[in-house]
Amino acid sequence: MEGKPAVRKAKATEGKSAIRIATENDFVEVGKLIYSLFPEARPLHSEKDVYFVAEEKGSFCGFVHVRLLRSSLELQGLGVLPAFRDRGLGKALVSHALKWAEKTHPHLSVHLKVKPTNASAISLYLKEGFVVGQDDGDAFKLVRAKPN
Ligand SMILES: CC(C)(COP(=O)(O)OP(=O)(O)OC[C@H]1O[C@@H](n2cnc3c(N)ncnc32)[C@H](O)[C@@H]1OP(=O)(O)O)[C@@H](O)C(=O)NCCC(=O)NCCS
Repeated sequence: MEGKPAVRKAKATEGKSAIRIATENDFVEVGKLIYSLFPEARPLHSEKDVYFVAEEKGSFCGFVHVRLLRSSLELQGLGVLPAFRDRGLGKALVSHALKWAEKTHPHLSVHLKVKPTNASAISLYLKEGFVVGQDDGDAFKLVRAKPN
């Protein structure tokens, strides 16, 4: 079904991590990962929410969360555990999510909000094709145009 998480064969990425869509069975561990990175977060969990996870030696070390909205997709969260940063994992997670979005929702644009002070995340998103849409003071809104 459109927008519903599905089991997908894991792919090797840079380093030794594999990236795949999280299944229902993964959600407790995904929640722990998100909590360790964003203690204030309350992860959404519905058929509109798709979580991609990076897994290494049986543990999750990074995630990206995409939420299906009425007429667009929102990238709602991205995080990589500190010990796994700076080796391309964050970029690989976003790239996987964007490829999935292009395949499953080709008519929808993808957007996200990021704090203007989060230079590393902004740099990553710009490299993945996002452009600055608007600045609402507390956050930049970045948009990635839908593919032609
Ligand atoms: C942002 C985050 C996901 C990046 O993950 P990562 O795996 O270290 O990122 P990558 O190694 O894939 O780096 C991709 C690009 O991001 C940028 N980047 C990553 N770390 C950076 C840093 N410390 N300083 C500046 N730019 C950085 C660079 O443009 C980099 O490209 P390059 O390798 O060509 O220089 C990670 O730092 C993180 O989890 N931060 C805390 C949570 C967070 O801020 N999430 C985003 C919320 S919107």
